[in-house]
Amino acid sequence: MAFKKDFLWGTATSAYQIEGAWLEDGKGLNDLDVLFAEKAKKDKDQDVPLVACDHYHRLEEDLDLLKELKVKVYRFSVSWARIMPTGEGEVNEKGIAFYNRLIDGLLQRNIIPFLTIFHAEMPEGLMQKGGFQNPEFPAIFEKFTEVVARNFGDRVKHFITFNEFGSMGQTLAGLPQQRMFYAIHNILKAHGRSARKLKELVHDVKVGAVFDAAAPFSLIEDEKHFKHAYDGFFNLDKDVPQTAVKLYADPIFFGKYPEEYWELFSDIAPEITKEDMELISTPIDFLAYNIYHGRLFHIDENGHSVWHTRRETGAIQTTMGWSVDPKAMYFAVKLLADRYKKPIYITECGVAFPDMIFGDGKIHDTLREEFIRTYLKELKRAVDEGVDVRGYFYWSFMDNFEWGSYTPRFGLTYIDFENKQKRIPKDSFYTYRKIIEQNGENL
Ligand code: NOJ
Repeated sequence: MAFKKDFLWGTATSAYQIEGAWLEDGKGLNDLDVLFAEKAKKDKDQDVPLVACDHYHRLEEDLDLLKELKVKVYRFSVSWARIMPTGEGEVNEKGIAFYNRLIDGLLQRNIIPFLTIFHAEMPEGLMQKGGFQNPEFPAIFEKFTEVVARNFGDRVKHFITFNEFGSMGQTLAGLPQQRMFYAIHNILKAHGRSARKLKELVHDVKVGAVFDAAAPFSLIEDEKHFKHAYDGFFNLDKDVPQTAVKLYADPIFFGKYPEEYWELFSDIAPEITKEDMELISTPIDFLAYNIYHGRLFHIDENGHSVWHTRRETGAIQTTMGWSVDPKAMYFAVKLLADRYKKPIYITECGVAFPDMIFGDGKIHDTLREEFIRTYLKELKRAVDEGVDVRGYFYWSFMDNFEWGSYTPRFGLTYIDFENKQKRIPKDSFYTYRKIIEQNGENL
C-alpha cells in the first residue's frame, strides 16, 4: 500500500526556538525570555538565547530553503507575546504582520501551514497571574485562539491547540499534586475552548493536539508482546501520572478521565463537571504525536514486562542521551490507532547528534540520514498494515535553541551560531528531500 499520494511530508519548528528578535516590533516578554535572559546575564553569555536562529529577520531565506527541501507542509508555532504582548487585550499588529508574511510566503511556495497555537511559551504577564493555575486561563486562551483564528484562519486550515501535554504536565510536577491536577484540568479545558472556537470561526478547519511519552516496544512482535506494550503505554503511573498519554487523550477523545485517575487520585482531583468533559471532548480531527525514542522491554518467565534501562548496553546515545529506537515508531502508531482510532500525524521526529562543518564546507551527518530512513521505514510498515497516518514532520527544519542550549543539533539545516547564524543544509536535508520526491518508495 505504502504512503498515499497526498501524504504530508513536512518539517517543524517552534517560535521561541528559532525566531530571536525578543524585544522587537512591540513583542512582549514571555516566561522563557525572562528565565533565559536572567541566566544569560548571570553567565555573561550575551546571546543565549535571544538571537536563536534569527529567523525573524531571515524569513525569506528560510522560506526559500523550505521550498528547496520540497516539503509539502510546515509546522510552526506563534509566539503569544509577539501577538498579544501581555497575553490579553491589546493585539500587536506588527506581530500579526510577521506571521502573515510567513503564512503568505508558505502558500506562495505551495507549502501548507500547520499552526501550533501553544508551544511552551507563555506571556510573562499571564505567568504573573498564575499561568495554567489561573482559573481564568481557559477563557484567556480562548481569546488568544480567537485572535489567531480571525487573523490567520482564512489561509491556515490545520491547527494544533497544545504541544506535548505530557511535557507541559511535567513542568507542573513540582507543585503539590492537587494543584498539579487542577492546572492539568485547566489546560484540558483551555484545549476544549480553543478547539470549539476554531470550529466556530475557521471554515474547513482541521484541529489536533500533540501527545508525547515514549512508546514501549519489544524485539518480538506477537499478540502477547503487543498486549504488554499496550498496557505499558496506556498506563497511569501513580508516581508520574502527569506524563501519561491517557491522562490527556482519554478526556479529549473519550470524554472521561481514565479509571485509574479516580482510583488513585479521587480525593485530590479538582471539581470536574459534565460540562467540562463535554467541552474537553469537543470533537477534533486528528491525533498528533511526537516521537524521539521508545522504551524497550521483554517479558520474563513470570509473564512480567521488564523495562531495559539501556544505560550499560553500549547502545548509541544521541546528544540528548536518548536511545535510537526505530521500532518504537511502528509500535507507537499501532498502539495509538488501536486505542483512539483517529488519523495520526507524526508532528515531530528527529535526532540530535554532534555535527561539524567538514573541510569541503558540508555537513556529513550520516547517522541522522540513517535515523530518518529507519524511523520512516517503520512508519511505512505500519501504514502498509493499514494504520491511518497522514503526515510526518522532521524535527527540526534547522538547528535551534533546545530549551537551554544550542548544543543539541536536531536540524536538517546547520546553523552556524558563531558565524551570523549562517544556514548550511546538511546531507540529511538532501536525503530527506529524496524521500519526499519519491513519496517514500525508496525507503
Ligand atoms: C519536543 C518539543 O516539542 C520541542 O520543542 C523540542 O525541541 C523537541 N522535543 C526535542 O527535544
